[in-house]
Amino acid sequence: MKKIAFIGSGTMGTALATAACKGISPSEVVLTDVVVEKGKKLAEELGCHFVDTNAEAIESSQYVVFCVKPQFLKSVLTEVKPVFERCASAGEEKVIVSIVAGVEVSTYQEELGLAGKNVSVIRILPNTACLIGRGFILIEQGDSYTEEQEKEFRYILREAGGFDSLPASQFVAGTVLTSTSPAFIAMFANSLADGGVYNGLLRAQARRYALEGILGTVQLLLQSEKHLEGLKDDVCSPAGPAMIGVKTLEDTGFRSSVINAVADAYKRFAEIGKIK
Ligand SMILES: NC(=O)c1ccc[n+]([C@@H]2O[C@H](COP(=O)([O-])OP(=O)(O)OC[C@H]3O[C@@H](n4cnc5c(N)ncnc54)[C@H](OP(=O)(O)O)[C@@H]3O)[C@@H](O)[C@H]2O)c1
Repeated sequence: MKKIAFIGSGTMGTALATAACKGISPSEVVLTDVVVEKGKKLAEELGCHFVDTNAEAIESSQYVVFCVKPQFLKSVLTEVKPVFERCASAGEEKVIVSIVAGVEVSTYQEELGLAGKNVSVIRILPNTACLIGRGFILIEQGDSYTEEQEKEFRYILREAGGFDSLPASQFVAGTVLTSTSPAFIAMFANSLADGGVYNGLLRAQARRYALEGILGTVQLLLQSEKHLEGLKDDVCSPAGPAMIGVKTLEDTGFRSSVINAVADAYKRFAEIGKIK
């Protein structure tokens, strides 16, 4: 029996399988993908196994992570339902791990007919930085898995980055911040770089200085207990350039744009979770 299977070798399948292959032996890790060449190539790079069918991956593994887009989840669950039934009848322990945005534990239980079967479900939400070991994985608290399973799962994926667990009532709010913020931060970084180019820097210089500015700021803020905008106050000297820039951002609705983006993303999570 292998330890963990990833169904789908796209962005997140790649990021999580990469972390798993650093945390445990790659011989314990299995991948699938509809595009066979893509899955095989990744498995070769990581030194883990590629198998042709989702059924084979599930049968051979204790933990099964579904890494497909929400619109494909229903058909994948319909396809693999008989496999879970077979494994449950044989008394094999299976732990489903959901990373699919917006999809609740009950969806897996209903779609796979898991009531009364020996199948646990852990709902998590990772982000793309798991690929380089700087991701953050939120775990929804609940009674659909055991403490030992959560502990083991964290162990398998410890090379992905940090973890936190949240009650169901806060899980979506947490996941919206950790999973959508990379998109917003990338846009912000590129906008900073555009400003640098506008002022005469080469693109490559502007890109690097914008990213160094963000990286150093984040590291400084993580080490401090101070209010996040305390740093802004430290940087803004009287009538200085930073304060002038802060006023421009305020005039153009910077804060409300960001707050609205996070609020709108939260609404969308509930919609995409209703799989058809
Ligand atoms: N990307 C993020 O930042 C992020 C963050 C948190 C959570 N998530 C969640 O992670 C999930 C995957 O997202 P992603 O960005 O990794 O998507 P993605 O890059 O499209 O990866 C999905 C992979 O699954 C493959 N696939 C599709 N149908 C399949 C099937 N029946 N059996 C096996 N593999 C199949 C796809 O093949 P093709 O090559 O044909 O497309 C693709 O390689 C989503 O549900 C999303 O909500 C994503």
